[in-house]
Amino acid sequence: MPSTPRSQNNGHSHEGRLDADDPAHAGQAAYTPFFLRHVYDPLVIRFQNRVTWRCPSKIIRALYQGNVSGLHLDVGPGTGWYLRKCRFPDANPRIYLLDVNSDALHRAAARIAHHHPQCIRADLLKPLTLRPGQFDSIALAHVLHCLPGSIPEKAQVLDRLAPLLRPGGTLFGSTILSRGVPQTRLSRSQLDYMNKMGVFSNEDDSLEDLKDALDQRFSDYLLRTRGSIALFAITV
Ligand SMILES: C[S@@+](CC[C@H](N)C(=O)[O-])C[C@H]1O[C@@H](n2cnc3c(N)ncnc32)[C@H](O)[C@@H]1O
Repeated sequence: MPSTPRSQNNGHSHEGRLDADDPAHAGQAAYTPFFLRHVYDPLVIRFQNRVTWRCPSKIIRALYQGNVSGLHLDVGPGTGWYLRKCRFPDANPRIYLLDVNSDALHRAAARIAHHHPQCIRADLLKPLTLRPGQFDSIALAHVLHCLPGSIPEKAQVLDRLAPLLRPGGTLFGSTILSRGVPQTRLSRSQLDYMNKMGVFSNEDDSLEDLKDALDQRFSDYLLRTRGSIALFAITV
């Protein structure tokens, strides 16, 4: 059975829900049980990644496959689609899920219940109270574009997550960018709509700022783009 989300108590409200005036509220509010069960995978994983952003999910799945370890932290797992699809290098991987939204934690944990994941409810916008140096891989897929602020501000998340890796570990993921990557009429209108709705907060996110944020922090990283999406893998 998946574990009940263990709350880090890093500032979010009680009862598994964030207050509407919390800075992290908009970026996670869309992920209701119904949306996670019936909408996210067909809409985002199968349609939008391929058609709107022109980065089919198999590309992100391959990023997982190339970087995931047997001691893995998945940040913002959503429905857990990638975790369900990926093959872990160990027969009994130890998997931790971190999200501020307890519905996402429950959905993703149920998806990989056979791996007995541990759930941690925590807000990435606030300091994490996890022990440093305890994971060999951390995934951060499609999370940065949901967070408020500019890329330099969002990069604080990298400062929170990278120290949780053991030496040689990898922090990898993806984010949808607005600037410095090709856009189509469809992607531009989706970006406008999602930013207006508050689900995304990436109207100023650029490839240049992302590269600067990585350059300032890490000497060993890969950054590439596919369509409107940036894919990164940082080794510490
Ligand atoms: C777009 S979904 C990504 C799901 C999956 N990783 C994927 O690539 O399809 C974003 C996830 O990040 C989580 N999230 C958003 N803001 C967060 C925050 N401030 N702290 C922790 N998790 C957050 C959401 O609840 C959701 O599970």
